[in-house]
Amino acid sequence: MLKDAPIGVFDSGVGGLTVVREIIRQLPSENVIYFGDTARVPYGSKSQKTIIGFTRQIIHFLKTKEVKAIVVACNTASAYALDAVAPEVDVPIIGVVRPGAYVAANATVNGRIGVLGTEGTVNSGIYTEVLHEHEPQLTVIGKACPLFVPLVEEGLLNDPVTVEIASRYLQQMKDMDIDTLILGCTHYPLIRNTIGKIMGSGVTLVNPAYETAISLRRMLQDKGIYRDTGTPEYHFFVSDGAEKFSSFANSILPVELVETRLVPIDEY
Ligand code: DGL
Repeated sequence: MLKDAPIGVFDSGVGGLTVVREIIRQLPSENVIYFGDTARVPYGSKSQKTIIGFTRQIIHFLKTKEVKAIVVACNTASAYALDAVAPEVDVPIIGVVRPGAYVAANATVNGRIGVLGTEGTVNSGIYTEVLHEHEPQLTVIGKACPLFVPLVEEGLLNDPVTVEIASRYLQQMKDMDIDTLILGCTHYPLIRNTIGKIMGSGVTLVNPAYETAISLRRMLQDKGIYRDTGTPEYHFFVSDGAEKFSSFANSILPVELVETRLVPIDEY
């Protein structure tokens, strides 16, 4: 049955596990196939052409697993590649940008929204574009935070170094008086507490991973392919460093990871 087919989720590496975590919480019977492109991470500093090429290869791989839908869990790939590849894919496909942007547009009261992301995501202007589709009067302030990804991957979630760097990155957001802040990179929800403390309680933090899981469920329900009963299976694939991936995954997922397998992604 199509309902039982897995959802394909991919990211440049471990970060997309924040999206898998939300899928496990919010769509607890869905089967998931995850691919993390750990051999080619980071995507955030690469060109659009490169990211589109990588995305095509990963989609070819996921299609071999007969996925019923695809989630582009990476903000950079959602920003750079989703519109280019969507017409080529014969299953429903969603990214993380639109779900987060729509919630932020509804959440703001003063019309001033901050977007944190990789260089690629911020330079693409995608969040501004989508936010302006919703409300052209919004002021959108983007900020690339390249040091957050390695800090999270080193496990320094509450470390003074992370607090110091976050304070510097976020000063501009404070000066610009934003009232809503989009955590526009897969890794940033993992330092949400640090960001929240610096920004203060007057700023609403938007986690695109959480909003994407809601949009995914709605999309599957609308298409009549939502799996709402049964025990799920989760399968994890990476392009390098399977063991390191497994230990990171075990630290953030609410389920036991059985095995991570290597995929020669260049061959797809
Ligand atoms: N997954 C990427 C994103 O959400 C962050 C890591 C990278 O640069 O590849 O944009």
